[in-house]
Amino acid sequence: MNKVGILTISDRGAAGVYQDKSGPVIRQIITEKLHAEVVQTAIIPDELEGIKSTLLKWTDEDKLDLILTSGGTGFAPRDVTPEATRQVIHREAPGLVFAMLRDSLAVTPHAMLSRMVAGIRHQTLIINLPGSPKAARENLETILPALPHALELLKDDPAAAQHH
Ligand code: MTE
Repeated sequence: MNKVGILTISDRGAAGVYQDKSGPVIRQIITEKLHAEVVQTAIIPDELEGIKSTLLKWTDEDKLDLILTSGGTGFAPRDVTPEATRQVIHREAPGLVFAMLRDSLAVTPHAMLSRMVAGIRHQTLIINLPGSPKAARENLETILPALPHALELLKDDPAAAQHH
């Protein structure tokens, strides 16, 4: 069973000012539609170092198969999720982002404002989703059909474990 982590990135969520609604939405979709188990969840502020260290722990120590982040992909000065993600991945997965943008642009022109990144660190796939529950759901539903094969390929590839 694939091991999944859901990382909500939100200053207000981490401070308890705002209840995390996206994390539970992602968890429900993952549990119902993917053969997977959510083994890690966290709500952390929009801080580059904290995002990076969580991603590194969940990849290198916990060896999760898939990490879905939610939030911090936009244009606000505090939005640094894509930068943190780019600093931990070894290989980008632009096709996932392309598909999410394609579908999201059909829903709202504001999709242009998401700078989300997807990529691979060792054998973990990391995918940024936007922060609102609606946007997180719409983007996740786009990539869902490709995820089982993506996760299979990562396990097949002996070279994937050799990157540093
Ligand atoms: N994508 C979809 N499918 N549906 C949406 O409602 N909202 C957008 C965009 N992507 C949206 C979407 C908006 S309003 C923003 S600002 C960006 O995602 C970035 O969101 P984030 O800063 O919460 O990550």
